[in-house]
Amino acid sequence: MQGLNGKRIIIAGGGSGIGAATAERLGAEGAAVVVGDINLDGAQATAKRIADIGGTALAVEFDLTDERSVRALVGTAVEQFGGVDGLFNVAADASAAVLGRDGDLLDMDPAVWRRTFEVNLIGYARTARAVLPVLLDQGAGAIVNTASAAAHVGDHVRAAYQSSKAGVNALTRHIANRWGKQGIRANSVSPGIVLTESATTMALTPEVLEFTRQTIPSPRLGKPEDLAGVVTFLLSDDAAWINGQTWSINGGALLRE
Ligand SMILES: NC(=O)c1ccc[n+]([C@@H]2O[C@H](COP(=O)([O-])OP(=O)(O)OC[C@H]3O[C@@H](n4cnc5c(N)ncnc54)[C@H](O)[C@@H]3O)[C@@H](O)[C@H]2O)c1
Repeated sequence: MQGLNGKRIIIAGGGSGIGAATAERLGAEGAAVVVGDINLDGAQATAKRIADIGGTALAVEFDLTDERSVRALVGTAVEQFGGVDGLFNVAADASAAVLGRDGDLLDMDPAVWRRTFEVNLIGYARTARAVLPVLLDQGAGAIVNTASAAAHVGDHVRAAYQSSKAGVNALTRHIANRWGKQGIRANSVSPGIVLTESATTMALTPEVLEFTRQTIPSPRLGKPEDLAGVVTFLLSDDAAWINGQTWSINGGALLRE
């Protein structure tokens, strides 16, 4: 892909799953990657895998709910690599205490809703807000946010999660429209079922996994690498004229325009 060599990319949530796979792909394409995560061990393991293949990466502990640590994440990227060219927001709170207690609306626990929005939506706004002045100074930059098929389908459960992800798509369009003329691109990826540890141990039962595998057009469920390729493309110069879009990456699970 064009223009990735030497690009400086922050992964907000690169300690595992889709974020880790994308960090590795970007590292392999020659980008300098700042792997941010609340789980420092996970971020360090990702950064080490990138270094092991000869890439450039740095692990940073940060928390999407803490404004100061978000600013420190961006500050570290600027200090260490001289600037930032892209941001991939991919973290979500998939813990048993939050996603595990996110039922339907009649089961609503306001604390679960608040935490879900703090991490999954306001957190993405925090990172984007921290990085935008750097991108605007440079006159160019790309942001990719992670939504979910749940934002489009009306899932029976995870009411807070799907609402936060619908908000992510609105945030993406806001950024694209507000700063597109100044060289900023923002797009969302909306994954279907991707076989990460969080998805298979926390979010989805074996029955749901098997039902989905059988009913989607593609012969298999998603792998983190399926998302990594698309996100890397969206952050590359090949995607220079793609702005404000939400791309469903789901093996054909939602056949719609
Ligand atoms: N896996 C799927 O099937 C699937 C489907 C649809 C959408 N998604 C979305 O894709 C993204 C990645 O999913 P995944 O399955 O790779 O999940 P994951 O749990 O493997 O990765 C999420 C990462 O976010 C980090 N994180 C959590 N809270 C944080 C915080 N407060 N600050 C900083 N980092 C924090 C975690 O430590 C973890 O490394 C999520 O946004 C998820 O909602 C996943």
